[in-house]
Parts: sequence; C-alpha cells; structure tokens
Amino acid sequence: MKKIAVLTSGGDAPGMNACIRAVVRTALYHNLEIIGFRHGYEGLINNENLQLQHKSVANIIQRGGTILKTSRSQRFRTDEGLQQAANTLKKNNVDGLVVIGGDGTFTGAIALSKLSNVPIVGCPGTIDNDLVGTDFTIGYDTAINTVIDAVDKIRDTAESHDRVFIVEVMGRDAGLIALRSGIGAGAEAILIPESKNDIKELIERLKSGQRSKSSKIIIVAEGDESGGAYKVADILKKEFPQFDMRVSILGHMQRGGSPTCMERVNASLMGYNAIQALLQNKQGVMIGIVNKQVTFTPFENAIKHTQALNADMLKMMEILSL
Ligand code: F6P
Repeated sequence: MKKIAVLTSGGDAPGMNACIRAVVRTALYHNLEIIGFRHGYEGLINNENLQLQHKSVANIIQRGGTILKTSRSQRFRTDEGLQQAANTLKKNNVDGLVVIGGDGTFTGAIALSKLSNVPIVGCPGTIDNDLVGTDFTIGYDTAINTVIDAVDKIRDTAESHDRVFIVEVMGRDAGLIALRSGIGAGAEAILIPESKNDIKELIERLKSGQRSKSSKIIIVAEGDESGGAYKVADILKKEFPQFDMRVSILGHMQRGGSPTCMERVNASLMGYNAIQALLQNKQGVMIGIVNKQVTFTPFENAIKHTQALNADMLKMMEILSL
C-alpha cells in the first residue's frame, strides 16, 4: 500500500476535521502518500483531488465543518456516477480509501466496492449517532452539547414567562439527540420515533402531574411520528388552551461549532485506526469505539439501524423530569 485517499460525505459533523487530521498524519507517519477528494463522492466523480501534507491539516482540530467539504451526491447513486468514481480511484493509483460519514456514505462505499478493488474503510461521522458498532459517532457529542446550551438559554426566558416551549432537534429517524440532550437539559419530556404513543402519555402526565417548574421544555426529535414541533404544539394547544406556548426549531446550528474534547479525541482515534486497518488489510468496515475499545463493524451491519434505545435511560428521563 503506497497511496491513500480520504473524503468526507453526507451531512458535515463537528470532529470531522480532527478525523481528517489523524488520517493524514498517521498515513504520513507510515510513509504513505495521502490525497483528499473534495466534496465527498461528488468530488470523487469529478476527480477533485488535492495532495495532503502535515501542514495541510495544521490548526484544524478545533474547527467545525470539514476542510474537505462535503455533499449529498445524487450522481453517485447512478451506475454511471459510480463507474466514474471507480475510474478516478484507478487513475490516481489509490490503494486504499477512507470515507468519513454516516449511513448514506457507507451505503455508497458498499456500492463502490462492487466496481472497484480498492479497499475502503469508514469512520462514523454524523451528529445523529444512528450507526451500529460505535457508542458515539463523530459529531454527536458536540451536537448534544450545542442543544443543551440552546435549551438552557430557552429555559431562562421560558421560566420568566411561565411558558411551554416545544424544541425540535435533529436526528433524522433517530431520537438519540433528543434523549441525551433531554436528560442533560432537564427537559420535562421528550418525543422520539423509537417510542410510540409518547404524545398521549405526555398529555396524561401533564394533566395529572405535579410540576416543580413553572416552565416546561418538551424536546421533539424531528423524526418523531407526531410530525414535528408545530404539530405537537397544535395538539397540546387543544388539550391545554391555558398554556402560553412557543416553538423553537434548532436546525442546522446543531451541526456547527468547535468540537468538544471527547469528540476530538474519539475522532482522532478513529482516523488513526482507519489507517492501521488498511495496513492490516481490513476493508469494508467502520471503525467504532465500544466500551472504550476500538471495533471494526462491516458496513452492512453498521447501517442496519438495529440499535435499541436504552430503556433505562428513557425511564430515568421520565422519573427525573417530574
Ligand atoms: O444526518 C445529519 C442531519 O443533520 C440530520 O439530523 C438531518 O435530518 C439532516 O442531516 C439534514 O440534512 P441537510 O443538511 O441535507 O438538510
């Protein structure tokens, strides 16, 4: 193995830069040539390559986003696009590819592997934390800290006005951002896709419950079956016309910002191990961290969405929110 390539794909996530830095510097340590492809798989199709050196990744560990830029490539979903991407790898004499991204990125890697012999390994980069085979994906820890920071601020104004706030957070089909930030921010309730009928239970709890705060924060995962924060507000307004209610959609601010220390360390560990994995002839696997141990999960399993939500965490959330 002489030459490695790296790219970031799908939604950006804080910590991706720390991962790129680790991939580049570990590759250089092993005397490997390292190039990057800009704009994810779209850049791979277009051969948007750049040579990477130690200096190229200086002063990026603290920066959110991705210096390699990213995209959600539609062309990469076509046979023609995939073939062009495979040709680019061949043309550049790439011997190994590191992809940093979420389930779409790994689905793309599986498809590319069918047309190219170049071994591919992946690092989990998504704020959603919805991959099997790692306790934390790159971006998740920073995103939940961003959410609790925002909710703490919302709480100040909510408590002053005795208001109810419905706060919508990201997570696509997963409620992991809502669950962890809900616990961390001391929310009164969370509504998540993994738990059905939670809106009915919430209404019952609100009718019967003795509340310790005059404000209420209800965190809704964007993928919840209720249809989002505005829908939840409509339902609650009918049941509780006395509530002074406001909706706040946190949106893409959850994807930005300087990564937390945990994020930087985990992302570094994953990037470092991505190169070790390629050198050990591993391929088709996602590098994860489970119980502080580095693990390798086949892409097919990583994207299965079979991660069960920790029922005890949910129960605790309910008990502590009273
Ligand atoms: O997968 C990360 C994520 O931020 C999801 O939480 C969200 O649903 C989606 O990406 C938004 O994607 P886009 O930036 O393309 O609107």
